[in-house]
Amino acid sequence: MEAQHVVQSDLFWQRIQAVTGLIFALFVFVHLANTTLAVVGSSAYNNFQEIARAVYQAPVVEILLLGVILPSHILAGIRRARIRRANGAMSLSVTQRWHRWAGWFLVFVMYVHVAAVRLPSLLYDVWPRFAGVAFAIEWVPAYFYPYYFLLALAGFYHATNGSLLALGRIGVKICPLRLPAARWVLIGGGATIIVSLLGFGSVWFDVGDPMNSQYARLYLELMGPSVE
Ligand code: HEM
Repeated sequence: MEAQHVVQSDLFWQRIQAVTGLIFALFVFVHLANTTLAVVGSSAYNNFQEIARAVYQAPVVEILLLGVILPSHILAGIRRARIRRANGAMSLSVTQRWHRWAGWFLVFVMYVHVAAVRLPSLLYDVWPRFAGVAFAIEWVPAYFYPYYFLLALAGFYHATNGSLLALGRIGVKICPLRLPAARWVLIGGGATIIVSLLGFGSVWFDVGDPMNSQYARLYLELMGPSVE
């Protein structure tokens, strides 16, 4: 009876994890496609964001995504980890271990990222746009290059592997990600992210003076005169 309850509880959280993961992955793929456009130029990046934003920042969508879907996905992950721990840890494949590492990394950085890019628009009507990311990279490159690289790579891997797992769990006949394909997802994704980030970093074209953007000026003002 007890064992049956554990199996049912795990199945319940597995479904929540699959459905919420698939919905959030849609946002992640659109958002990363937007980031990739940085290699083309600031107008392509900003124009795409303007269009996509009309959907993901529609109040109902944004509140559901960040206030219900993402927290439910994280909660399901935590609940399932506890159930598994209580029943003795199973050995994990390499691709599943990478999936978990990426997931935990995202849990810790995601809401910090959202706060950093979304609060200025909510509180001060100042949008980051291309210049905001270019500013961060020019301001503290040793921090923001690796930070954005890891954020994007963890998001890409977790969303890709997670979508395949989730589709399988809701009955779609699909192969989960295994080696060596998973390695190619990381190599291909990582290379694309590096090339895109160099677009913000003024390597492929001149990005103007991002330190003078509205977003930069707001941050520098909030941080105090010592950093100006
Ligand atoms: C190089 C990587 C990334 C860059 C440069 C970046 C940049 C940005 C920018 C500029 C915004 C503001 C968008 C707007 O005003 O419309 C934003 C919002 C956001 N980002 Fe990222 N991001 C990156 C990766 C990620 C990843 C991997 C995730 C999730 C796994 C993520 C989650 C979010 C979320 C949830 C929002 C808030 C959406 C909203 O409520 O408007 N980001 N990001």
